[in-house]
Amino acid sequence: MTSRIYNNEHQYGGLSRFYHWTMAILFIGMMACGLIMVTLDNGTVRDATYMLHKTVGITILLLGIFRLVWIRHSKTPKPDESLETWEKLLAKWGHRVLYIVLLGMPISGLGMVYFFGNVIEYIVPLNEVGEPSFPTVLVFAYLHKFILPPAVYIVVTLHIIGVIKHVIVDKKPETLTRMIGKIER
Ligand code: HEM
Ligand code: HEM
Repeated sequence: MTSRIYNNEHQYGGLSRFYHWTMAILFIGMMACGLIMVTLDNGTVRDATYMLHKTVGITILLLGIFRLVWIRHSKTPKPDESLETWEKLLAKWGHRVLYIVLLGMPISGLGMVYFFGNVIEYIVPLNEVGEPSFPTVLVFAYLHKFILPPAVYIVVTLHIIGVIKHVIVDKKPETLTRMIGKIER
C-alpha cells in the first residue's frame, strides 16, 4: 500500500502523480483564468472570477509547499536511464524552474493583493491589510504580470515538448509512464 503512495527509484508513487496532474491542470487553468479576467468589465462576473482566481491560487501555493515537504519523505525517482546526459541535466533544471514558477506565481499574486491593501480572499474574504505600499505592489505586479508569465510559457512548453520527444521521437515511453503509473519494478 505505502509503496503505491511513495516514489521508488524508477517511478513516481500515487501521491506525486496525483499532485503533478492536479497541479498541472490547475496551473494551466489559472494562467487562462488570469488572462481572461483582466479583460472583463467591472461587475459580479469579474468579482467572482477574481475571487475564484485568488482562492485557487492560494490552494496551489499550499499544495506546492506540501509538495516540497513531501519530497523530503519520498525521494524523486532517478532520471530515466534512456536519457542522454544533457537531457537529464535539462530535465533536472527544467523541474527546478517549474517549481520556481509554480510557487512564484501565487506568491507574487498574494504580495500584489496584500500590499495594494485589498481584501485577501480564500473562499471567503479574510482580512484587509494595514499599510498599503505602492512601490512593493509594483514589484510584485511586475513579477506576476510581466516577468513570470513569459518564463511559464517557455518552461512549460519545453517541458511538454521534452515529454513528446521522448515518447514519440525517441520511442521511450518510460518518461511518461512513470508519471502515469504503468511501470512496476
Ligand atoms: C498559480 C497561481 C497563479 C497563476 C498561474 C496566476 C496567473 C495570473 C495571470 C496570467 C494573470 C493575468 C496577468 C495580466 O496579463 O495582467 C493574473 C492576474 C491576477 N492575479 Fe494571478 N495567478 C496566480 C495566483 C494568484 C494569487 C494567489 C493571487 C492573489 C491572492 C492572484 C491575484 C491576481 C490578481 C489580483 C490579478 C489581476 C491583476 C490586474 O487586475 O491587473 N493570482 N494572474
Ligand atoms: C499536459 C502537460 C504536462 C505533461 C504531459 C507533463 C508530464 C510530465 C512527466 C511525464 C513528468 C515526469 C518526468 C520525469 O521525471 O521523468 C513530469 C514531471 C514534472 N512536471 Fe510535468 N507535465 C505537464 C505539465 C506540467 C506543469 C503545468 C507543471 C508545473 C507548472 C509541471 C511540473 C512538473 C514537475 C515539477 C515535474 C518533476 C516531478 C515532480 O517533482 O513532480 N508539469 N511532467
